[in-house]
Amino acid sequence: MSRPLHEWHDALTAAAPGLGPVAVYAETPSTQDVCRERVRALGPAAAGFVCVAERQNAGRGRLGRCWVAPPGRTLTFSLCAPPALSAGLLGLAAPVALVRALDGFGLAAAIKWPNDLYAGGRKLAGILIEVADGVPVVGIGLNTLAEPADFPPELQGKATSLRLLGVEADPLEVLAACLAALTAAFAEAARDPAPLQREWKLRCGAFGKTQAWLHDGRRVEGEAVDVDPEAGLLVRTCDGLLVRLPAATTASAE
Ligand code: BTN
Repeated sequence: MSRPLHEWHDALTAAAPGLGPVAVYAETPSTQDVCRERVRALGPAAAGFVCVAERQNAGRGRLGRCWVAPPGRTLTFSLCAPPALSAGLLGLAAPVALVRALDGFGLAAAIKWPNDLYAGGRKLAGILIEVADGVPVVGIGLNTLAEPADFPPELQGKATSLRLLGVEADPLEVLAACLAALTAAFAEAARDPAPLQREWKLRCGAFGKTQAWLHDGRRVEGEAVDVDPEAGLLVRTCDGLLVRLPAATTASAE
């Protein structure tokens, strides 16, 4: 982080009055684990807590994968969400919030089931949703200043960043916008999830276009026809079958 940590703390605390407290670390194993510890200590009262780290030394992704990010060039943060929202609903609300925040920087990102953000055909951000003692913890990794050489060899040609997409935004401003958008989307989801669900479908690149996923070790290729927060994505395969792809067991095949 090019600014002192206390500046991040103060700016983020001001950006999302519905969230907090905000903890900013130079290094931690995983911001998910800091949130989990907070839940262990406070139970449901942990909701709203935000943890941001410049570097994670044991970051994790979905499906047991590692999440490796160049320090200071990717936003890595987690927050304790309201316990009343299910992981499934948060899986729709969080990516919608992020695409709205990025719209504000002139970037039209697309949601890729289950909950990645893509732009220019490459992965820009990943979202991990875990539940700790009944409290959902939403973790986000969003590439901001990363250059091609910052990505590990297996991600070369597959990952992108705001900078590579021509968006030279201050990462602190991007994070502040994301937190404000997440707070708003969580409140909307609690009131009435239907409009958020419609917006999710509009911003998901799998409607009206063939995509491929990996589910239970099989490749599924087809076009999305509907989404349900709990049951997953409903896909019409290229051979005309209707299959459900639950978020917990599905990965993008691209
Ligand atoms: C994925 O694409 O598989 C999800 C990646 C989620 C990474 C973020 S970075 C902040 C938070 N802490 C972690 O250890 N993981 C999430």
